[in-house]
Amino acid sequence: MKALILVGGFGTRLRPLTLTMPKPLVEFANKPMILHQIEALVEAGVTDIVLAVNYRPEVMVAILQKYEDLYNVKITFSVETEPLGTAGPLALARDILGKDDSPFFVLNSDVICDFPFQKLKAFHEAHGHEGTIVVTKVEEPSKYGVIVNKPDSSMIDRFVEKPVEFVGNKINAGIYIFNPAILNRIELKPTSIEQETFPLMAADSQLHSFTLDGFWMDVGQPKDFLTGTCLYLTNVNKCNPGALANPNSGYVHGGNVLVDPTAKIGKDCRIGPNVVIGPGVVIGDGVRLQRCVLLEGSSVKDHAWIKSSIIGWHSTIGRWARLEGTSVLGDYVTVKDEVYINGGSILPHKSISANITEPQIIM
Ligand code: GDD
Ligand code: MG
Repeated sequence: MKALILVGGFGTRLRPLTLTMPKPLVEFANKPMILHQIEALVEAGVTDIVLAVNYRPEVMVAILQKYEDLYNVKITFSVETEPLGTAGPLALARDILGKDDSPFFVLNSDVICDFPFQKLKAFHEAHGHEGTIVVTKVEEPSKYGVIVNKPDSSMIDRFVEKPVEFVGNKINAGIYIFNPAILNRIELKPTSIEQETFPLMAADSQLHSFTLDGFWMDVGQPKDFLTGTCLYLTNVNKCNPGALANPNSGYVHGGNVLVDPTAKIGKDCRIGPNVVIGPGVVIGDGVRLQRCVLLEGSSVKDHAWIKSSIIGWHSTIGRWARLEGTSVLGDYVTVKDEVYINGGSILPHKSISANITEPQIIM
């Protein structure tokens, strides 16, 4: 089977992390976001993956080529010279996606869930039409594509991208399966699949919805990245609790703590719930961590306190420092001892020695 992952876009909403690393390579739960998707695709029998890239392809090529052998899958980079949007990349990869009659998966690179590829394929083949969109329910639909079904049917009646007025709360989860026939609808030019292709497919009665069970999150911005981390860890706790830190080890409080085996944790810490600690992270004594992500090589000195924040690669948090309010640190940031940061978005290599009490960007 074939799949295409939409890996373009500048990932501006996930800055400052994406100043250093393309969004799909930012580690989510200690694994590049896109690897969660590649692993699930491979498990569902996909052997041919196209990565549709337009931003810093060289970084991606270097990192992802090594996964070809590891997962025994063919990864092709389809590089755009201008951003082709969310549909144009399908036309650019026509040779691969249309090489046989079998359907192919398409996914946004920033969505996390328990990917239901096998069930999705079975559902799609059973209805026999051109496309199926995975849908989920959210409370705040305005920042997504919204789906309205025909009465008592999985067939989609309307698709409205980022509606300004409420049309419903069933949204596009950014995961699709299409027959190669969709390629006849898409030209090789910048095109939005959500705004241009889906409404026409719905009008032709060629588009169905498949409802996702369980958690889902677009983790393309810091607040959602943290919420997605909590949902993901809760799911790991349910399905594979052995992958998490033992809840009886002295430092775990409230569970859902994922720790890379190379990380070091000091004495008398209180860690959890919902914490991810990356490779090589060093945590001092008496540290308190809650609902946060510490990326590779970062360190937290004695008695620091971190809540609802993301600490970038190789950053250092000083003794008795206190971070909260969806603070996000780029790589190699230094926060001096006893500094308080609330909602700071701090660009790479900065050194912070004064308190930041209101959300702001430090560059
Ligand atoms: N190759 C390529 N080229 N990829 C692109 C381009 C491009 O020009 N523009 C965006 N992408 C990729 C992004 O990297 C991402 O994986 C995907 O297309 C969707 O773009 P986002 O920028 O993340 O869109 P969104 O989150 O605002 O909305 C989309 O996702 C929602 C679900 O998370 C839409 O598909 C919504 O309908 C959907 O509900
Ligand atoms: Mg997105």
